[in-house]
Amino acid sequence: MSILDGRTGLKKVIDEVAEVTGYLWQKGWAERNGGNITVNVTEFADESWATMPAIAPKKNIGMVLPNLKGKYFYAKGTGKRMRDLARYPMQNGSIIRICDDCASYEIIADEPVMPTSELPSHLALQDYLLGSGSTYKATLHTHPIELVAMSHIQRFLKGDEMTRVLWSMIPETLAFAPLGIGIVPYGLPGSVELAEATLEQIKTHDVVLWEKHGTVAVGTDIMDAFDQTDVLCKAANIYMCAKSMGSEPDGMTDEAMKEVQDVFNLPKTRPC
Ligand code: 13P
Ligand code: ZN
Repeated sequence: MSILDGRTGLKKVIDEVAEVTGYLWQKGWAERNGGNITVNVTEFADESWATMPAIAPKKNIGMVLPNLKGKYFYAKGTGKRMRDLARYPMQNGSIIRICDDCASYEIIADEPVMPTSELPSHLALQDYLLGSGSTYKATLHTHPIELVAMSHIQRFLKGDEMTRVLWSMIPETLAFAPLGIGIVPYGLPGSVELAEATLEQIKTHDVVLWEKHGTVAVGTDIMDAFDQTDVLCKAANIYMCAKSMGSEPDGMTDEAMKEVQDVFNLPKTRPC
């Protein structure tokens, strides 16, 4: 028996997670257990979910997140591989219920798969999204090669230099990531400090880059969060390709970028 049985809406969401984790592996962004995902699945919860027994001991999140009371999330399991999740999503992830104290969670289905070590970052973002009335449901942390490589170069970590370079590589980057990429200085994986810094950056950016580690994106669904990351990584890849041809790429001019911004009437703040 799976919690997905007879719940076609929920199954569709989990199938989409599985589809995206396959892409993460194919792209080379998901070595070993690299990366993690959460999706808010509360809309699929019926009355029976509230009384479903916990199948593992209650655990603390490490933060108090008031907007998450009684909410349900699918979370990738810690130590689990994206490529395995692509075939068996309910053996490599689980559904958790946030307890009434807003500071702990229980696993309710299907198996006692412990959620990702980056749960503080994911849930801090989910709490912010719910609190701001956003319709966004998904959060994605992954290890995109070119973006992580750029985060090893000091000049890209200052101000909005990385955003400016990425926008200037191809007009679509500006069109689809109009808030750009926010930088979080290196922090210990899984830490509450990393979660707090990520939360601050996502308020004003499309995607957050953890220095020398990876990205965090939010989206209406997991495909959308993947697309946000992919668009920025594509620009980083173009930058690298041009560099490897022997010189610094010209990039679009400031005028050309301003024209894209004006003609497409791009938002300058997060439309939550
Ligand atoms: P988990 O296996 O705990 O999800 O960790 C992977 C990762 O990318 C940590 O940053
Ligand atoms: Zn990671």
